[in-house]
Amino acid sequence: MEPITVETKPIQGQKPGTSGLRKKTRVFKESHFLENYVQSIFDGIGGIEGKTLVLGGDGRHFNDRAAQVILRMAAANGARRVIVGQEALLSTPAASHLIRKRGTDGGLILSASHNPGGPDADFGLKYNTPNGGPAPESVTDKIYAATQGLTRYRILEAQDVDLTSPGLQHLGDMEIEVVDPVADYAMLMEEIFDFDAIRGLLSDGFRLRFDAMHAVTGPYAVEILENRLGAASGSVVNATPSPDFGGGHPDPNPIWARDLVAAMMSDDAPDFGAASDGDGDRNMIMGRGVYVTPSDSLALLAAHAHLAPAYKDGLKGVARSMPTSGAVDRVARSKGIDCYETPTGWKFFGNLLDAGRATLCGEESAGTGSDHVREKDGLWAVLLWLNILAATRKSVAELLREHWTEHGRNYYSRHDYEDVESDKANALIDGLRGKLSQLPGQSFAGLTVEGADEFSYDDPVDGSRASAQGLRISFTGGERVVFRLSGTGTAGATLRVYLEALEIDPDKLAEDPQEALAPVIAAADEIAGIRAQTGRDAPDVIT
Ligand code: G6P
Ligand code: ZN
Repeated sequence: MEPITVETKPIQGQKPGTSGLRKKTRVFKESHFLENYVQSIFDGIGGIEGKTLVLGGDGRHFNDRAAQVILRMAAANGARRVIVGQEALLSTPAASHLIRKRGTDGGLILSASHNPGGPDADFGLKYNTPNGGPAPESVTDKIYAATQGLTRYRILEAQDVDLTSPGLQHLGDMEIEVVDPVADYAMLMEEIFDFDAIRGLLSDGFRLRFDAMHAVTGPYAVEILENRLGAASGSVVNATPSPDFGGGHPDPNPIWARDLVAAMMSDDAPDFGAASDGDGDRNMIMGRGVYVTPSDSLALLAAHAHLAPAYKDGLKGVARSMPTSGAVDRVARSKGIDCYETPTGWKFFGNLLDAGRATLCGEESAGTGSDHVREKDGLWAVLLWLNILAATRKSVAELLREHWTEHGRNYYSRHDYEDVESDKANALIDGLRGKLSQLPGQSFAGLTVEGADEFSYDDPVDGSRASAQGLRISFTGGERVVFRLSGTGTAGATLRVYLEALEIDPDKLAEDPQEALAPVIAAADEIAGIRAQTGRDAPDVIT
């Protein structure tokens, strides 16, 4: 088993996006594509000789093949050890936890998150740093630079490694430690939450439904919710990870998790419903007859987190991405804690968490998490909700109503226009950017613009600056619209329009969000000419 050096040339388009490199699976399978990128990660982080890495993924098509290639390349590049999840599976939060718990030099996660999987769908690879979090731009820039100057990669010629059962083995001089992907993570959850209280709730007849969407959280949810907490067997549905996620789209939102929505809106709805995405870092929360927006979920969790043992002393601060609603800001204000506003992308929370400035973070894109790992964490959010429900013995709907009465309601919705031609999407954003400074004082669809700017972020911990992070327009009545292009797509452009309106009138807290937001929706279209410029009559996805 001799390491060989393979000559190669730089491949264009290997620039990591919001969350690592995402491409069509068939692109990842093209000759040298994966190998080039893996070598560039190794080179970009200063080599991996003598280092220990974590490796695992969400089980999508090509996960197993890519893992074998990475193991052979890690061995050829002199890594000391790779800790890999059994069958090369690890949810993203579990990988983050393993990196931290074992003090490794980072890890590689195979996933395109909530994007569909399969030979004609999407694949992805991202490097997480030793703090367990997604690599910040300072690191991904180096990786990208490495892709552009690459002339060779190293790989071992060897048979596949057997990843079917836990244990230690060797590949060349490198150790491979295969671990149960669930065990350490489940142990961490037991440390954070009051499992006895949740067990008590469930044994009193509280019913839940967790939809794993044929993705990686299935085994985690069965072990934690059914085996350890006593939820009725079958509470976790679509629990077996499949390479194409059962032909579905493993994105926990009301469109793609429509079966869960139907179950939660039915006469026989359970008390609590939740879903997670391909790699287990996102979450969707529902109560009987109600959907909780991610922004409201973050705010409500921040308000009640002290009910869980790990947060009993209160939160050091909270953080949200810029397009996320201001609901959590209102909680932070009432608690007298700091609230940070970051660009979209979990990696921007890393410094705040590491520095102890924020304990809880969240994004409108269905991500919520805390300083227990450095990724967002779907099952963690589900367990925090269950802990709160167990401690208060109130329903999800009651908790929401009380929250809005106390803090006001930030009506919120995101409208996505998918697969728009990139030229058109860029033209729309450029056009809007060009006229931002003229907007204040003007009225659109009856709303008057108060302020308009392009968001940039100065990291308070390391002073780094991220610019061009979304165009935001606020109106005098407390409404807001944000325009951004997605950084996670693999084809064309996705225009995201984030809409928000604050309501504090107690008689107006129970409206349909699309109706409550109608004036903002109309103003957004008038300002940006969405329909005219994209040729679309309506968004593809409304969350
Ligand atoms: C991933 C990232 C999130 C981000 C989301 C949406 O899930 O981990 O941090 O909010 O993608 O990103 P996008 O650029 O597609 O709006
Ligand atoms: Zn994900």
